[in-house]
Amino acid sequence: MMLHVPKVLDATQVAGFRKRLAAAGWTDGRITAGFQSALAKNNLQLPQSDPVARELSAAVCTALERSPLFFAAALPRHVYTPLFNLYKEGNGFADHVDNAIRHEQTGQPVRTDLSATLFLSAPEEYDGGELVIGTASGTHRIKLPAGDLVLYSATTVHRVEAITRGERLASFFWIQSMVRDDGERSLLFDLDLAIQQLNQEHAGHLSAVKLVGVYHNLLRRWSEL
Ligand code: NI
Repeated sequence: MMLHVPKVLDATQVAGFRKRLAAAGWTDGRITAGFQSALAKNNLQLPQSDPVARELSAAVCTALERSPLFFAAALPRHVYTPLFNLYKEGNGFADHVDNAIRHEQTGQPVRTDLSATLFLSAPEEYDGGELVIGTASGTHRIKLPAGDLVLYSATTVHRVEAITRGERLASFFWIQSMVRDDGERSLLFDLDLAIQQLNQEHAGHLSAVKLVGVYHNLLRRWSEL
């Protein structure tokens, strides 16, 4: 699964985030990296305990709750507390796979089914810095407008290209989904979109009710809570 979710944050919210993050206490990004990815990672990150990080990660979660597209695609059971990173000129993050299990500061384990990056810098502010994701269907190079999010399978090998000009600010996090399997979750998302389209074009059609039933019966079969 790979999905572009536009306008998770609007321009005013992005400006507010950036103002707060400009004065925050950035540290070496390797604090959240596993052994293998620590060798690949070269960026700055806000510690989870930082008051600015706490405030803004809650704001990201609130924004996600207002995004029906994010919910339909991710079917989140748990959103790992969003983190923030900053890539300056020369920084990058070489090819790696995200750890399968992460622990919240409370100790709660989270299985990382999906990864997400919420862009906070506009594409024209920096060169390089593309999120490059390898999938069975090819390699995707992603650089989105500020406020937009990309959701992708955490099983993928991915990297952030080195920055050659400017700075790239983002929030990143993982999602444990109610539906662990990427293929099953993608089928549910496709079905959900088809039902929405059917409802728009043929409102009140009995087939839509039956398909909603199929959706929920599949979700009942495949979800874990
Ligand atoms: Ni990663």
